[in-house]
Amino acid sequence: MALTTLARSGRLVAQNQSLRYVSTKSGPSTGRKVMYSLLGTAGFGAAGVLYALENSVSAMELVAHAPKYQWPHGDWIESFDARSIRRGYEVFKQVCAACHSLKYIAYRNLVGVSHTEEEAKAEAAEVMVTDGPDESGEMFQRPGKLSDLFQPPYPNEEAARHANNGAYPPDLSLITNARHGKEDYLFALLTGYCDPPAGVTISEGQAYNPYFPGGAIGMPQMLYDEVIEYSDGTPATASQLAKDVSCFLKWATEPEHDQRQRIFWRIFPVISVLFVATWVVKRSKWSSLKTRKIVFTPKKYD
Ligand code: HEC
Repeated sequence: MALTTLARSGRLVAQNQSLRYVSTKSGPSTGRKVMYSLLGTAGFGAAGVLYALENSVSAMELVAHAPKYQWPHGDWIESFDARSIRRGYEVFKQVCAACHSLKYIAYRNLVGVSHTEEEAKAEAAEVMVTDGPDESGEMFQRPGKLSDLFQPPYPNEEAARHANNGAYPPDLSLITNARHGKEDYLFALLTGYCDPPAGVTISEGQAYNPYFPGGAIGMPQMLYDEVIEYSDGTPATASQLAKDVSCFLKWATEPEHDQRQRIFWRIFPVISVLFVATWVVKRSKWSSLKTRKIVFTPKKYD
């Protein structure tokens, strides 16, 4: 065994004439096979336990799982629906921004996605931003610029909780990736408000939503038919509003989504050809090495 390992270097083979190559291929030893099967069983077992735990925990929480919806943006080929993002921005600005911040998105991010540069500048100029200090050391207010981030509705978490019965409206920049079910969950949550089932009591200032873990949510139903008017004339039904704001927030979570897909499809053909070529070359280079068998015939002393 030790000699076989040594002989792989080739040097020893040249020195010792009694070593020769026999081209056969042998599988792993029995010990290894047992080890591999044990590892495999343990791996599958652990995955099974994790899966069971994940599901039993969700089942205990009595939470409704969001169905899968057909989004205009897919995971592999489809790009974002720019018009939907534009409408979603209107919903966010006129409804959600009253309570939720979107702190990782700046007005310049809208340019070329849902708005032209002029439009985005006009949107930014509508909000007042604290800047400074000026020459006298004072902070001052000025109209927003393209480089400004979206302004939060509350100065800090305490103020936000105080205004919402103690519940904290989370920042929505990364929300679609931060929740199980992603944008499906968001849509289901926004459209899922209903009366609590018999036996469930909801305290003052809370609403019932079966998609929210626990059922009692501190955010009242926000989206009703015609709660805002779309500038492009699309009928503003509650589900349309929810879908558009979900598309907008999905974009806010992954603004690089379209570019990532485009780059992937550009490099995919090249990578596949290179992968196959590498595989073929590797097989041919290693074939003599992998299929050889080294036999050691001890010298006979008589
Ligand atoms: C009146 C204030 C208010 C408005 C307006 C509002 N929300 Fe909320 N939202 C809240 C509060 C408060 C919470 C925290 C609820 C809780 O933790 O019980 C919340 C929580 C959420 C959550 C997180 C739920 C979770 O799984 O933790 C999402 C997503 C959300 N809101 C989306 C929206 C969207 C989208 C809009 C606009 C259509 C919106 N909200 C408008 C107050 C608001």
